[in-house]
Amino acid sequence: MEGLTPKEIVQKLDEFIIGQEEAKKAVAIALRNRVRRLALGEDPIQEEIHPKNIIMMGPTGVGKTEIARRLAKLVKAPFIKVEATKYTEVGYVGRDVESMVRDLLNYALKMVRAEHEKKVREKAEKAAEERIINILVSGEDKETEEDKDLLDNLLSSIAGKKKDQEEEPQQEEDMEYVRKIFRTKLANGDLEDREIKINVPASKGLSMHIMAFPGMEDIESQMQNALGDLFPKKKAEKKVPIREARKLLIEEEMEKLLDFDAIKEEAIERTEQNGIIFIDEIDKIAARASKGGPDVSREGVQRDILPLVEGTTVNTRHGQVRTDHILFIAAGAFHVASVSDLIPELQGRFPLRVQLKALTKNDFMEILTRPKNALTKQYKALLSTENIALEFTTDGIERIAEVAVEMNSKHENTGARRLHTILEKVLEHVSFYSDEFAGKEVTVDRKYVDDQLKDVLQDNDLSRYIL
Ligand SMILES: Nc1ncnc2c1ncn2[C@@H]1O[C@H](COP(=O)(O)OP(=O)(O)OP(=O)(O)O)[C@@H](O)[C@H]1O
Ligand SMILES: [Mg+2]
Repeated sequence: MEGLTPKEIVQKLDEFIIGQEEAKKAVAIALRNRVRRLALGEDPIQEEIHPKNIIMMGPTGVGKTEIARRLAKLVKAPFIKVEATKYTEVGYVGRDVESMVRDLLNYALKMVRAEHEKKVREKAEKAAEERIINILVSGEDKETEEDKDLLDNLLSSIAGKKKDQEEEPQQEEDMEYVRKIFRTKLANGDLEDREIKINVPASKGLSMHIMAFPGMEDIESQMQNALGDLFPKKKAEKKVPIREARKLLIEEEMEKLLDFDAIKEEAIERTEQNGIIFIDEIDKIAARASKGGPDVSREGVQRDILPLVEGTTVNTRHGQVRTDHILFIAAGAFHVASVSDLIPELQGRFPLRVQLKALTKNDFMEILTRPKNALTKQYKALLSTENIALEFTTDGIERIAEVAVEMNSKHENTGARRLHTILEKVLEHVSFYSDEFAGKEVTVDRKYVDDQLKDVLQDNDLSRYIL
C-alpha cells in the first residue's frame, strides 16, 4: 500500500505540533482509511465506505488549524481550509457552500497541472529553444549593428569556406551550421540580454486566470465563453531579452503540450477520491437556541453543508464532482456553543470527535523551542542576518512560558498565540536597536525577560493590551 502509515503521519506532525496526540491520531487514521479504501480497487464494498469525518474541539490557539495546515503539506491530497462563517445560505447574498467543492477542485487542478507540467517541461524547453534559434537565424529581428555583424560574419565566413570547395551553395547545411553556433552561444548564456521579437498570446493562459480568483469563477467562465468565441485570442508582438522570451515561449509551448482534458479528468478524480475540506469555526454557525436572535442564515448554512457531507453532485465549470468520499474535518473552539447545538443531521455526519487540550507551561516551553519553525528559531535566524547572536537559556524560555500561562489565565485565553506577543515584546529592544547589537551576543534568560517585561507586567491594563 502506498503512502504514509498512520504512525508515520503522526511522526511528521510531531515535528510541528506539540501534544494533541488524540487529534493527530484521528486525522492520521482518517487519512489512512482513504488509502485503504482505494486499495480495495474493484471490490464493490469500496463504494459503500464513506469517510469518517472529524470534529476537532478545543480552546483557541491550541493547534486545531495548525494540525490541518500541516496535514495539507504532508499528504499530497487536494486540501482546502475554509471558514464556516464566510458562507451564506443559498438565496442570500454571499458565497454558497458549494463553492467549497469548486475551490477544492481548483486546488486539485493546480496540483495535477503542476505534475503534468513537470512531465512535458523538458520538451517545452527544447521547443522554445528551437524557436529562439529560428528567430535569431531568420535575422528578422536584427536591429543593432552588433546583431547584424554577428549573423553576417557567420554567413560570410561560411561562404568564404565554401568558395574553396564547391560552387553550389549548400543552403541547408549552412543554416545547420549557423544554428549550431547560435545553440552553443545560447547554451553558454552569451545571448541572454539580447532582445528578440516574439509573438505571444496577449493574455496568459485562461486556466491560470481562473485559479487566481476562484470566487469569480462562474462569472468569468461565462464571460470567457461568450467573448472567447467572438474574439480569437490576440497575439501581441513583444520585444524582450532572450532570458524573458525563453520563459514566455516555454509557457506557450507548455500550453500546447498539456492535455487539458486529461488534467481535468484526473483532477476531478482526485478531488472525489482524496479531497479534504477543513471547515474552521464550525461552532460559530451552531446557533444556540436559547440565544435566539435574527440570525436565520446560520442554521441555513448548516443545512446547506449537509448534502455536501452526505454526498451530492456539485456542478463546476470543469464537470461534475461527487462529494461522497471527500473527507471533512470541522473544527471549533466550542466554548459558547457545543457540538450538540449543531443540527442533529450534521452531528451524525461527523462521527469522530476529538478534544484538543489546553496547553500547559511545559507545552509552551516545547512550542517555543522544538518545532522546526519554533518561534525562538525564527527570531534567531532573523537577527543573525544582522550579525546578532541570540541565545535563549532554559530559564528564559521557562519564564516566557510562565508569563504566557499567567496572561492567559488573567485575561482572555489565546493559547499559544500569546507566545507570539510576549516574545515580540521581549525582543522589541534588540529588534529596534539592532545596529547597536551587531557582532554581539544577546542572551535571553529569566532576568532578561523580566527586565524587558517589567513595565508591562506591573500595570494590569498595559499588560492586557500589550501581551
Ligand atoms: N500544539 C501546538 N504545537 C505547536 N504550535 C502550536 C500548537 N498550538 C498552537 N500553536 C501555535 O499557535 C498558533 C495558533 O494555533 P492554531 O491556529 O492552530 O489555533 P486554533 O486551535 O486553530 O485556534 P482558533 O480556535 O482560534 O482557530 C499556531 O500558528 C502555532 O504557531
Ligand atoms: Mg483556528
